[in-house]
Amino acid sequence: MRPTAHAALGALALVLALPAPAAADGSVIGGKPAPLSHSPWAVALASHERFGVQRSGQFCGGVLVGHSTVVTAAHCLSKEVLGVPWREVRDLRIVVGRDKLSGGGGQELKPAKIWVNPRYNNYTNDGDMAVLTLDRPVPNRPIPMAGRQDSAYRPGNAATVYGWGDTTGGGSYASQLRAARVNVLPDAVCARAYPGSADGTYKPRTMLCAGAPHGGHDACQGDSGGPLVVRGRLVGLVSWGTGCGQAGSPGVYTRASALLPVVSAHGAG
Ligand code: ARG
Repeated sequence: MRPTAHAALGALALVLALPAPAAADGSVIGGKPAPLSHSPWAVALASHERFGVQRSGQFCGGVLVGHSTVVTAAHCLSKEVLGVPWREVRDLRIVVGRDKLSGGGGQELKPAKIWVNPRYNNYTNDGDMAVLTLDRPVPNRPIPMAGRQDSAYRPGNAATVYGWGDTTGGGSYASQLRAARVNVLPDAVCARAYPGSADGTYKPRTMLCAGAPHGGHDACQGDSGGPLVVRGRLVGLVSWGTGCGQAGSPGVYTRASALLPVVSAHGAG
């Protein structure tokens, strides 16, 4: 979804869901815990000042693509999500290596540099990407990004989305990182689902979409900026969708290949 009231709630979750009786807004999200030992590149964006100390102040996801480079969604750094311009958030942190947000462990790093795509279009959601450079390198393993022609983007491929966001569509944010299985969908299906509305417009060059045939497995609020992974390679970042886990409304992701030029300009990837 666009950074509306939901995103402003703060946390994120990933959602996997069961084909289920409709919840409040028709979304049901299932999913299962994902140990960070298998996904050390999954990171959380946090601010205690803006989002409280519970759940480490998490409000979005991010992905380690280099030892000091993190990619996330541009809308995560918007005023709609943060309440104020990002430059005014004095304690923005990148949480690396912490499975359970309610516990300790891992490290909280400061961004030395923040690049938010100046061309991000908050009407269509096109170009929903940002790059954060950590103030020091971390030992945690980064994930390789799938290049433009990578077979990982092929429709039908099994993909996994990771996050600490809403697990029900009703505002139950996860403490432990979760993962949901979805399938990469053909561009024609994504374009048909999202021809253009207040939620966004599907742009195949810079987006991809993924979902489950009957809905139920999806990302949700609080998962934004987090990874969509196919065979160990990053193919997308959680960006938007209508509701969560609804059949016919797949999750839309920023296409990793659209991020590659900026990531290499930042000296990683
Ligand atoms: N915009 C949301 C966020 O800020 C992510 C929504 C993803 N929605 C979906 N149905 N896949 O966390």
